[in-house]
Amino acid sequence: MNNIITIDGPAASGKGTLARKIADHFDYFYLDTGKIYRLIGLQAHQAKLIPEDNPDDVAIMAKTLSQNFDLTMMDNPELKSDLAGQMASRVGQFQHVRDAILDLQRHLAVHPPANKKGAVLDGRDCGTVICPEAPYKFFVTADQDIRAKRRFDELKLRGDDIDFETVLADMKERDDRDFNRSVVPTKPADDAIIIDTTNMSIDQAFSKMIKSID
Ligand code: C5P
Repeated sequence: MNNIITIDGPAASGKGTLARKIADHFDYFYLDTGKIYRLIGLQAHQAKLIPEDNPDDVAIMAKTLSQNFDLTMMDNPELKSDLAGQMASRVGQFQHVRDAILDLQRHLAVHPPANKKGAVLDGRDCGTVICPEAPYKFFVTADQDIRAKRRFDELKLRGDDIDFETVLADMKERDDRDFNRSVVPTKPADDAIIIDTTNMSIDQAFSKMIKSID
């Protein structure tokens, strides 16, 4: 696990952008674990499964997905939608759903594809559950209002017809579920470095993180 960097944190904290930049910097494989939850969430939605009513069926779906997983699945643009994010957060509440994709995530971290020499994992439990022995762990966060504003700007840029109040309400709902769920609530690993990006640019956060790795 020597060449693994974990970056956890809440939605729209900047962790995805930072994780990608750090992976580019070291030429490491970038694994967005949220996208795996989004894939399961979208599949559940397409199958008209209500995660809270059918967690066992969702877990079977997650197991099948992990057995047939292929990286090109992560390119589906629908994974970026708010619906996929909400569904991801709903399916991720169940321990057996999480367990179904644990080996896949560990495998990709320890044996990164494309002969990369290391991996950067981005998610909620990368430093606490997936790779607790990773030598470099970060928890990237920011105030909720700021994160909602960033997400709103991102959706507007994409051309989505959405108002800020709706984005803020969705963010509150997702934070509430992710931070307060009984199963693997979002939290920093004990040895994670906390990066608060509320008043920090991506470049400032990036150089702070790189300094603590080099
Ligand atoms: O990071 P992203 O917004 O894509 O994650 C979508 C949802 O997937 C999160 O709100 C969270 O509930 C879930 N998730 C998780 N564990 C991870 C990554 C994502 O529970 N490692």
